[in-house]
Amino acid sequence: MCGIVGYVGNRIALPILIDGLKRLEYRGYDSAGVALLQDGKLLIKKCVGKVSQLEEMTKDLKSTATVGIGHTRWATHGAPNDINAHPHMDCHNNIALIHNGVIENFATLKKKLETLGHVFKSATDTEVLVHLIEEFSRWNEDLDQAVRGALKEVTGTYGIIVLDVFKPDTLVVARKGSPLVIGYGDEEIVVASDASALVQHTRKVTYLEDGEIAIVTAHEVTIKTLSDVEITKVVEELTFDLEQIEKGGFTHFMLKEIHEQPETIENSMRGRLLEEEGTVKLGGLSEVADKIIRAPRLIFAACGTSWHAALIGEYMLEQYARISVEVEYASEFRYRNPILTKDDVVLLISQSGETADTLAALREAKAQGATVIGICNVVGSSIARESDGGVYIHAGPEIGVASTKAFTSQLTVLALLTILIARGKGMSREKGIELVRELRRLPEKVQTILSDSKKIEYIAQEFKDTKNFLYLGRGYNFPAALEGALKLKEISYIHAEGYPAAEMKHGPIALIDENMPVVFIAPQDRTYEKIMSNIQEVKARNGKVIAIVNNEEDSIRNLADYKIYVPQTLDLFSPILSVIPLQLLAYYIAVSRGCNVDQPRNLAKSVTVE
Ligand code: G6P
Repeated sequence: MCGIVGYVGNRIALPILIDGLKRLEYRGYDSAGVALLQDGKLLIKKCVGKVSQLEEMTKDLKSTATVGIGHTRWATHGAPNDINAHPHMDCHNNIALIHNGVIENFATLKKKLETLGHVFKSATDTEVLVHLIEEFSRWNEDLDQAVRGALKEVTGTYGIIVLDVFKPDTLVVARKGSPLVIGYGDEEIVVASDASALVQHTRKVTYLEDGEIAIVTAHEVTIKTLSDVEITKVVEELTFDLEQIEKGGFTHFMLKEIHEQPETIENSMRGRLLEEEGTVKLGGLSEVADKIIRAPRLIFAACGTSWHAALIGEYMLEQYARISVEVEYASEFRYRNPILTKDDVVLLISQSGETADTLAALREAKAQGATVIGICNVVGSSIARESDGGVYIHAGPEIGVASTKAFTSQLTVLALLTILIARGKGMSREKGIELVRELRRLPEKVQTILSDSKKIEYIAQEFKDTKNFLYLGRGYNFPAALEGALKLKEISYIHAEGYPAAEMKHGPIALIDENMPVVFIAPQDRTYEKIMSNIQEVKARNGKVIAIVNNEEDSIRNLADYKIYVPQTLDLFSPILSVIPLQLLAYYIAVSRGCNVDQPRNLAKSVTVE
């Protein structure tokens, strides 16, 4: 969840580190720090708060250091404060270390190290790592040997970068469970927890795997296993541009990403539609497609917004492909000893491809012999790499912590998967053609909704001081209601709940009065009349209704207090359209409440701890 970056080369390190941290800040933003190797000593600057505060703190430093490391934190062990901020140092301020992950046995190790005379300053789990390395440095001349020795003692997850005054031109980098990528520049190397921090310097990268250590100098990177065996790795080319990770004139990344959706949805299906044949082509599934089609059931495991996408995938696949689907929270799935057979196919949906629980669910499913499929956005991410087959959603880098464009791309890919399996199981070519044709129309329909966002901005103003919200939908739009409520909670801190509309009668109706706005997702589908009755029930209790409807002539007209129009589409694609106004509503409400929408409190983009 934290962001880490390291630099060794011939340029001044500080601005490169600060810039890298700004790009990684979506991973965590409660404190930040840097360690620079300045005149043979470690120069440490760290503080609670955002990277901008660290930048302010270091702006007059005039550092000439060309080696350094930087960290932006999302606190797990120890409150966010100056002392707990990374980097952490050994007893003699010779070694500095930054860490992303959790050291589970830190308490035992800390006790042991204290008896050996080590003095701890922070309340973090991380600090044991640097003292352990100090301990191992007594017997090992090579920093990487000391790091290796220390890492053998720890249980948990880590992505670390270590800097030692006695190895002034070297960074030692290691990974287990937390991503790390090494970027090869011209006489310089940038290491980071994801490629967004280094794409402005180089496109040539190597992804470190679990259990690997890299010894990095400006001219050379040596990668070894924890048991000291040297390995050769492929250098890959990054496929995204700098401008994709910049705001491009929008006030927030989230707004930019919402507006990118016509293009990102298009990108998710680009080159994959076979309209004539009424089917789709998903290259990453070619080896496993038969297995999926023959599987007795599919199991989705995911977290957060990706879990909502999975719920919609369940509706799509069961209705069109007539295959039994289960949807699991990844965190529950892995710990409840799930019953799996080798015929089961487990699909992991994850924007980042790094969510710890989802990755652990993948490993659990794999260990039990199931086939595992990754549906990820980040190319080369852990889930993508460890899967038997997969589909990238191609939404491009998503920086806003609240997921938007990744969600609609996940839904697009799930629709493609549905068509593929349904055709494999006997759905007619004509039906396939109808679905493919409508998929093609979606980007334009999304654009229509975006062009009408002024109205949503106005509605947002009306409701900015509301304390609670209810979101209701049926069928495909029940998970969309969950997603709408999640978006609002995440970025505006207004309490919001999503419910299946008919279920309202079994509880939430008790909450309805003139202070409770209810967002109804009410497209013209087979449950339309039913949802109309639910709206009547809310109006009868003086609730305020915001309805998402398909056309102006809708009979909801006289019932709803506010109406937002979305174009009509086939039932399975409906949430791709209905979620857009929900994203915008959450965004504008959060902005009018003065919230930091790109970096909501307590959240992180990529949750790499359990
Ligand atoms: C975090 C993010 C959410 C995201 C969830 C799952 O909670 O804030 O936006 O939906 O993790 O992330 P993933 O990368 O696995 O889709």
